[in-house]
Amino acid sequence: MSKIREQEAGLILSVVWISSDLQLRDPETAHSLLLPVIEDIRELDLPLVGGWCLGDVVEGSNLAGLEETAESVVAWYERLDIPIRYVMGNHEKDYCRRYREGRFPLHEQISGRPGWLTTRSPSDFCFTESWCGHQVFFFSDQADPEGKWIAAHHRPAKDWPEGYPNEEELWESVRRQMASSSQPVITVSHYSFPGGQRPSSILEKLLPLPDTVRCHFYGHAHIGDFVWNRACPWERRHYVSGQNIKQYNVSALESRRSPGSHSAFLEFKPSGTLQLRIRCHLRRRWVACYDIA
Ligand SMILES: [Fe+2]
Repeated sequence: MSKIREQEAGLILSVVWISSDLQLRDPETAHSLLLPVIEDIRELDLPLVGGWCLGDVVEGSNLAGLEETAESVVAWYERLDIPIRYVMGNHEKDYCRRYREGRFPLHEQISGRPGWLTTRSPSDFCFTESWCGHQVFFFSDQADPEGKWIAAHHRPAKDWPEGYPNEEELWESVRRQMASSSQPVITVSHYSFPGGQRPSSILEKLLPLPDTVRCHFYGHAHIGDFVWNRACPWERRHYVSGQNIKQYNVSALESRRSPGSHSAFLEFKPSGTLQLRIRCHLRRRWVACYDIA
């Protein structure tokens, strides 16, 4: 059996890198942030099978700067030579929000690019794929490709020419898809479900989650950020409201709003257990570890 088949079947240890909240405005900052991160990860020499990037990679509304920065980030991530999956966060819509024009430079860079996968359109809510014996649902922040509406901070934004188009039918169909999965489900997003930090009112529409869901990973609420994440600023693990499902905050890779430069590594063990380890790439140390039942 090939190594990839063994990893897919869960017969050997596989690791997925989960990153979020880089908050980059220019290629120079991308270089200084990502050089130590990528070097550290390469030196760890883990059996990485892929990376899930949970948004707020770029920020600001300088289109030329956003395009250059997106190009630089893609080049840095590709140094790991692993498949990468990406969902948008609120800051990927900064330009659209300011100029009401449907331009999303990182989503545009990644769309159709070998080795990368994201939503087919910036307006899509999710895509799903099988990873290491689990069905993974990637929930993205959304905006109209022509800039007619956005879902700001995962809430339908008001005062735009066209309203947020998704309705109960969509949430019901996603819930059904998760419930009927033959594999345990993992969900990821820029945002948490209620019960987590800075939760999304759109993800709330998926509650209660079906029993197939094993855990959720999110960013947005930067750990140690006392301005935007005042409630339990150091706590990474919470329950989804009213359910015995844990959700984990993996942020933040940026080092301005929060101390350190953090990302997460999700280990799929041959025994079937999952372990999440948090790494500070500046200190080059593991700073937290969670066993996920
Ligand atoms: Fe965010």
